[in-house]
Amino acid sequence: MSLAIVTGGSRGLGFETARALKAEGHSVVIVAKDLQRLQSAAASLGCDYRAVDLEDLDATEATFKEILATFGTPQILVLAHGVMSEKMSKTLKTTPQEWRRVMSINLDSTFIAVNILAPSMAEARDGRVIIYSACLGRMSGPGNAGGLAPYRISKAGVNALVRNLAHETGHGTRGFLVDAVCPNHTRTDMGGPDAPLSVEQGADTAIWLSTRSFDATADKTGFLWEERQVIDW
Ligand SMILES: NC(=O)c1ccc[n+]([C@@H]2O[C@H](COP(=O)([O-])OP(=O)(O)OC[C@H]3O[C@@H](n4cnc5c(N)ncnc54)[C@H](OP(=O)(O)O)[C@@H]3O)[C@@H](O)[C@H]2O)c1
Repeated sequence: MSLAIVTGGSRGLGFETARALKAEGHSVVIVAKDLQRLQSAAASLGCDYRAVDLEDLDATEATFKEILATFGTPQILVLAHGVMSEKMSKTLKTTPQEWRRVMSINLDSTFIAVNILAPSMAEARDGRVIIYSACLGRMSGPGNAGGLAPYRISKAGVNALVRNLAHETGHGTRGFLVDAVCPNHTRTDMGGPDAPLSVEQGADTAIWLSTRSFDATADKTGFLWEERQVIDW
């Protein structure tokens, strides 16, 4: 049975992704901050869990090392955790504390998870990393065109991390896939009750990327995806 690790697995898009991977027969470990919510999500999925505050980067490093030591090399790593920045966080209004909080959770902990878990996945030539980014982090279209600065810039950083790592690992030719996903506006705690997409719709592309068959001569990896299509960064 293959192992999938899903951050943000306690609720929203991460929970839906973990649910689908569990239903596909993967053994799943979910990671989030709130212990009670995590325990109840893990009980309903029938999976393992680890609690950590991903803003605390030392604890984050220790937790992913422990996960690797305990569960072994995953075949699938889905990073679906994230926080929105405060409403008033335009660049000139953002406090250094708010900047640091959003960067730590959205970008730094993403690097740490990849840096600890992905080397053995790449070495095994059997691994896929899927990271929930956001269209607000795109450098094209309206992506980075103002407001919510720490959030948008953290997601632009996530996109750059994915593109860089894909180049470093041979764009799928060595059995290691890495992709970013823009789920679009989805009804979760972050997206709010009036968002147009259900969690099933919002999580569809990440679940598909986690489980699709892949032929390096015909299929693409190392991109930003929306509705199962590659879109401009
Ligand atoms: N929903 C949308 O419309 C939308 C659109 C574009 C992109 N996205 C992206 O998609 C991803 C999932 O979003 P969502 O809507 O499912 O969000 P959500 O419902 O707010 O869930 C956020 C998840 O991240 C975890 N998390 C937040 N802060 C954490 C911390 N400090 N330490 C550990 N875990 C933490 C939460 O764990 P706890 O339960 O422990 O707090 C929860 O599992 C995010 O990266 C988001 O930026 C969402």
